Amino acid sequence: MKSVLLAIVFFSFDATSDLKSIQQAPDALTRRSRVSEYLKRYPESEHRAAVYEAGAMACFELGDQATGLYYARQSLGIYPENPLLASSVAAVLKNRGDEKGARHYAELSRRYLELFRPKQWEAIRPGIETTVEKILGPAPKQTLTQAGDYAGTASCQGCHKAEYEAWRQTGMAKMFRPVTEGKKEYVDIGARRYPVDARIGSKWQEAYATRAPDGKLHVLPLQYNKLKGEWVNYWRMIDPPYYDRGDPSLFHRFREVTEYQSNCAPCHTSQWAERESKEAGINCEMCHGPGKAHAQGAKMRKLSAEESVAVCAQCHAQSALRTPRAEFPPRYERRPYVEFGRNAFHADGRFRETTFIVESFERSACYQKGQATCAHCHDPHPKSGRVNEKGLKFGPEDNGMCLQCHEASHSKKGVCVDCHMPKTMSALLFEARTHQIESPRKK
Ligand code: HEC
Ligand code: HEC
Ligand code: HEC
Ligand code: HEC
Ligand code: HEC
Ligand code: HEC
Ligand code: HEC
Repeated sequence: MKSVLLAIVFFSFDATSDLKSIQQAPDALTRRSRVSEYLKRYPESEHRAAVYEAGAMACFELGDQATGLYYARQSLGIYPENPLLASSVAAVLKNRGDEKGARHYAELSRRYLELFRPKQWEAIRPGIETTVEKILGPAPKQTLTQAGDYAGTASCQGCHKAEYEAWRQTGMAKMFRPVTEGKKEYVDIGARRYPVDARIGSKWQEAYATRAPDGKLHVLPLQYNKLKGEWVNYWRMIDPPYYDRGDPSLFHRFREVTEYQSNCAPCHTSQWAERESKEAGINCEMCHGPGKAHAQGAKMRKLSAEESVAVCAQCHAQSALRTPRAEFPPRYERRPYVEFGRNAFHADGRFRETTFIVESFERSACYQKGQATCAHCHDPHPKSGRVNEKGLKFGPEDNGMCLQCHEASHSKKGVCVDCHMPKTMSALLFEARTHQIESPRKK
């Protein structure tokens, strides 16, 4: 046993020092040959994306465009959100007369520059922008729609009865339920007893919150898992070991880390930027925007595909930095995905957890080239009034989801999602389909 462990330690030590030796290579020629050696020696390395990138840049510098493009595509296939590499590929393709390919990579580069704004990119940003501008022309001016006033769900109900009735049955509507009347329930932790003042969640798991003496709601560390029929310490399951948010013996201190308003409200209640959220649950205006003017007769604005996904990204994107924004839908800046560490990804670069649904979906050609939105497949309030568990407009394996845009012509028979949205994600409580829709990966 011991010798196996040592081998692994040495192995990874070598892989890391070899990686350093690539980065420290004195010239492009040496770098290119070290990259090729590295890839032979560590074909499964978790640093492949970075190594391929180094190889691509070295090859481009040496004028070896064919190998460079091969390396670049390998790197971007694992980790696409790389504006520098995408812009380099765009420039090379333009040089080779591939206008369409050049535009595609230039557009990706521009999108990632817009989405991520970490400080360490500031130095390279102007150079990338210039490259991209040569291919696409100047960036279009962002039109930010200022948010108007909110009207509240009650004012939508009268004119939109069908949507209201269907929405009421969804998990999103029932997300947060204050306990106001009826029999009080209690949760015991050690010798202390806490009244349940609010319930969060309804379908797969339920969390409970209690009011501290200062009036603030705090979420108890124990949640009830309905699928398994048992109590779980959910935070212990998802937090790193050094994090003590899930320690029941510390709960009575009502620390910031268990407080509802700052930790949960942005995704579990509506119009949260106002000091106390306006409404429990996820209301109409979280998805449709401020509706006061519309309720008084103005037309509802139509959303573009990108805005439509931004609506859902408010809560279904793990990397969103939710700082208050004036426009609707808020286009939150993202935390660069590398900061989540290798644990967030499979070895092939795909996301592991369903908390990254939007990030996964945005990698799909269906979204990038086809303007597919979440609403193509999901409807939180279907006209039929019948809402299924996943809010799908179609059955969970209905090929109609894809045939909205694709022809049924290709030779593979069967359920599209089984091959193109395989169950490679974890929702912790169940296996979930990836939303990175693409050609199946070879195992
Ligand atoms: C006085 C009646 C009335 C009220 C109140 C009302 N609506 Fe509407 N709504 C309409 C009518 C009529 C249309 C179709 C014409 C249009 O698009 O304006 C519509 C259309 C819509 C659309 C579809 C727009 C499109 O074409 O895609 C949405 C979304 C919507 N309303 C949301 C809301 C929300 C949210 C509220 C509450 C804040 C609300 N409505 C309140 C009458 C109303
Ligand atoms: C970034 C947005 C976000 C934040 C912050 C967040 N959640 Fe959630 N939560 C979600 C989403 C989205 C789901 C639905 C999961 C899915 O289907 O992918 C969910 C699901 C849940 C569920 C299961 C719901 C059900 O019906 O089974 C519970 C319980 C829950 N969250 C509790 C909490 C608590 C407690 C906090 C604060 C400590 C919190 N969440 C913070 C987005 C968030
Ligand atoms: C979780 C997000 C979400 C919530 C909450 C939500 N909607 Fe919608 N709504 C959508 C999406 C997405 C569409 C577009 C569906 C489509 O394209 O088929 C839509 C479409 C509509 C339409 C246009 C008619 C239609 O069915 O296409 C109306 C009207 C509407 N919603 C009203 C409401 C009202 C009223 C509420 C609250 C009772 C509400 N919505 C809550 C996401 C939401
Ligand atoms: C304000 C935060 C928020 C927004 C905005 C939001 N969601 Fe959700 N969504 C949640 C939470 C929280 C849950 C978990 C609710 C539950 O299942 O109890 C959820 C659950 C879901 C589910 C599982 C089925 C269900 O209804 O519970 C689907 C599908 C879904 N959301 C799709 C969407 C789509 C599509 C959009 C954009 C049109 C969207 N959501 C916008 C927070 C949000
Ligand atoms: C809103 C339209 C739309 C929907 C819905 C849609 N797609 Fe696509 N999809 C596209 C477009 C457009 C492309 C890009 C085609 C191209 O490259 O010319 C694409 C590309 C693809 C590709 C090729 C990916 C690659 O890496 O080259 C696959 C595979 C695919 N879609 C499968 C599916 C499946 C399976 C579904 C249903 C689960 C689906 N799509 C739903 C529009 C859509
Ligand atoms: C091409 C169709 C399609 C599109 C587009 C799509 N989804 Fe889904 N979604 C599915 C399918 C299929 C499932 C899994 C259904 C099942 O297995 O029961 C699913 C499941 C979900 C679930 C339930 C949790 C889970 O992972 O199973 C959520 C939440 C969700 N989708 C949100 C979104 C959001 C947000 C977007 C846009 C960023 C989106 N979906 C775009 C087809 C789609
Ligand atoms: C048995 C697995 C399987 C099923 C089922 C399947 N596909 Fe595919 N699909 C593939 C493979 C593998 C590829 C890669 C190219 C190839 O070999 O044809 C692919 C490629 C594609 C592409 C990329 C463009 C192309 O034609 O090469 C699209 C789009 C696509 N599939 C859509 C669909 C749709 C829509 C369905 C359902 C009607 C579906 N696929 C069902 C395995 C499958």
